[in-house]
Amino acid sequence: MRIAVIIGSTRPGRRGEAVARWVQTLAAQRGDAVYEIVDLADHDLPHLDEPVPAAMGAEHYTGEHTRRWAETIASYDGFVFVTPEYNHSYTAVLKNAIDYLYTEWHNKSAGFVGYGLNGGTRAVEHLRAVLAELHVADVRDQVCLNYFTEFGAGGEVLPAEHQEDILRRMLDQVVAWGGALATLRQP
Ligand SMILES: Cc1cc2nc3c(=O)[nH]c(=O)nc-3n(C[C@H](O)[C@H](O)[C@H](O)COP(=O)(O)O)c2cc1C
Repeated sequence: MRIAVIIGSTRPGRRGEAVARWVQTLAAQRGDAVYEIVDLADHDLPHLDEPVPAAMGAEHYTGEHTRRWAETIASYDGFVFVTPEYNHSYTAVLKNAIDYLYTEWHNKSAGFVGYGLNGGTRAVEHLRAVLAELHVADVRDQVCLNYFTEFGAGGEVLPAEHQEDILRRMLDQVVAWGGALATLRQP
């Protein structure tokens, strides 16, 4: 099992990287899957510039950046989306990255770590609705980190005591569903 921890923000000074590292550090101790950070900042996708929608088939992909992104996402069995809340939703950069691909997302599981002034709950709700269109099985539990109380002055993550348990439960579900859907991912 390979799980991508996707960092959904790219701005300088973002909290997203620290959140993803907290997730990956705890996840790596489990030994049930390989957990890798996928940073949208490393992919540098332009505003969607493919002439044909991804749903029409990967054979229409034209950009080298698209092919590289497709190869990255295709190599995972499940995802943990780390996303802040921006204006009551998840980030535009993450939506753009999602829209680039289609079958690469299919029949995989997803969990969520949201953060923001209100824990990023609205961002995650929007993301769940979009992922349904891409045949992604979103799990019940989600971590919600509060911007005011769960981050230090330097942006480090200081999660409340209960958060590690929630993260563990969420990862249990991501791994279980990602494994259960493996038969549907056969080429
Ligand atoms: C453009 C923008 C819009 C935001 N809108 C919201 C919001 O609607 N609700 C909220 O709870 N926090 C909001 N915030 C606060 C962010 O969730 C918080 O700053 C978070 O750390 C941003 O993630 P990042 O540091 O990884 O970029 C907003 C921040 C930005 C930059």
